[in-house]
Amino acid sequence: MNQLFTDEQWLAWIDELSDNDIVTIDNFLPTELWQTLRDFLVQKDNENDLKKAALGTGGNKQIIEEIRGDYTFWIEETRDTELERFFGLIHELKTMLNRYCYLSLSGHEFHLAHYPVGSFYKRHLDQFNFRSNRMITLIIYLNEDWKEGNGGELKVYQENEKLIAPLKNRCVLFKSADVPHEVLKTHTSRYSLTGWFLYQPPGIGFLS
Ligand code: OGA
Ligand code: MN
Repeated sequence: MNQLFTDEQWLAWIDELSDNDIVTIDNFLPTELWQTLRDFLVQKDNENDLKKAALGTGGNKQIIEEIRGDYTFWIEETRDTELERFFGLIHELKTMLNRYCYLSLSGHEFHLAHYPVGSFYKRHLDQFNFRSNRMITLIIYLNEDWKEGNGGELKVYQENEKLIAPLKNRCVLFKSADVPHEVLKTHTSRYSLTGWFLYQPPGIGFLS
């Protein structure tokens, strides 16, 4: 299969990810591929297929609202065949991460997200106490024309705190266990794709 990016390009990005725990890549996807993801999300949103993101259920709902207010749609390679090229890219990236970061990534999981006006996601790590196999986080912003003052920046907590604007076709990759982050309150509808490359320790299938 044809690669979307050269090995040299991947190596440069992955070097930065290794050194800094995070890398931001602007104008990441070819335009048609970005548009396909954006159209797919808008369509699912219009059809009311996005669900309130959950951290738990039942009586915890109130607390969840205070932590995160986004709506998500989990995409699946076998079902969502119109996203074939995107999943091709994910396989390409996974191969490169395994090769250049010496990771043993096997699985992946991705969702599309809509943060309505006024919503946010409080500071967190992308690993759960009960499950810690998320290794690398990937985000691609699907906003048409984000502007200063629209809010919804990704705030990253490293030695220095950093704000990353959710600009059209900007990609952010970071180490899921090492980079605390939050989504600041958004003042416009905010669209993104977020997902994780998973490490599958031997035996996890047996345990779960
Ligand atoms: C998440 C998350 C950040 C963003 O979904 O876990 O932190 O910028 N998203 O959308
Ligand atoms: Mn997160």
